[in-house]
Amino acid sequence: MFQELVHAKIFQDYLSTAYFPHTPANLYEPIRYIMSLSGKRIRPLLVLMGAELFDSEVLESALPASAAIEYFHNFSLIHDDIMDRAPLRRGQATVHQKWNDSVAILSGDGLLVKAYEELAKCPAHKIGPLLRVFNKTALEVCEGQQYDMDFESRARVSETEYIEMIRLKTSVLLGGALQMGAILAGADERAQELIYSFGVNLGIAFQLQDDILDVYGNPETFGKQVGGDILSNKKTILFVKLDELVNAEDRVELGRLFVSTVEDEPEKVNKMKALYAKYDIQTLAIYQKEKFTTIAYDKLQEIPVEDKKKKVLFALADALMNRTQ
Ligand code: IPE
Ligand code: IPE
Ligand code: MG
Ligand code: MG
Ligand code: MG
Repeated sequence: MFQELVHAKIFQDYLSTAYFPHTPANLYEPIRYIMSLSGKRIRPLLVLMGAELFDSEVLESALPASAAIEYFHNFSLIHDDIMDRAPLRRGQATVHQKWNDSVAILSGDGLLVKAYEELAKCPAHKIGPLLRVFNKTALEVCEGQQYDMDFESRARVSETEYIEMIRLKTSVLLGGALQMGAILAGADERAQELIYSFGVNLGIAFQLQDDILDVYGNPETFGKQVGGDILSNKKTILFVKLDELVNAEDRVELGRLFVSTVEDEPEKVNKMKALYAKYDIQTLAIYQKEKFTTIAYDKLQEIPVEDKKKKVLFALADALMNRTQ
């Protein structure tokens, strides 16, 4: 989706120099597989753009950090797909489906090590500050993933709890990517805070869009199983909003759908969609997404850097919010 950007091209060139052994094949093939499916690669773009915003000369030296973030992201996707029992990723079979859970766990672990290998290539005097952001972010992603799973078995989750869960599982990685770019470019603390906050708010809007696409996405372009969140009782923005609004009768139906499984409730997705439609939940979710996008834009606006240098980040954010994949 962003292949035409110069940042995407230099990132692709950098990744294509990465070496992975051929044996054991069941360790390295899945790594090559997930990386070759590529995806949108927005997180490495954010590292590069975060660096370029503060110093246009540092783009090249930000490549290892951008690769570290993308390896970490792919690691988290392989493991996320095991946790979510997801059959599809980027339009193809997930690693655990194509191989098995053990292979998916280990190849994911391998990618995490590759992330640290890339971090070790960053300029020596930046490694300490970069590791602090990276490690904090990585552990927060684990926290978010645990809340996400814990919430599956809970009947109700408040909007505040939900936003905190997605801040952790998704948003901090976008914020952390931008902040790492800013660190590499020598940005001061205040600028780092602002760009991190831009990324976190953009990340919340990004996950809200992901939740919306999980129900309303086009299976041809989305690349993941549409309806997957409904089938696994995920607490998404759509669920949380519906739960706030349902009348007594529909709450009984919601409770019934919550305990049903795919086998005894083949119509589960359609029934949930009917409830969402009845209460116009999609509109409410889009409204929330726009709210966080606006906060993100305000943070980017506040960064004391010439407007013209921010254009590429505004354009990326716009494209993300209107994406179909
Ligand atoms: C998927 O991230 C995981 C979420 C946080 C929603 P992306 O939508 O960025 O996935 P790819 O890398 O483009 O496939
Ligand atoms: C993604 O959440 C969070 C991480 C991968 C860490 P989802 O479970 O919603 O992501 P998708 O929809 O599978 O990409
Ligand atoms: Mg998932
Ligand atoms: Mg998940
Ligand atoms: Mg999702």
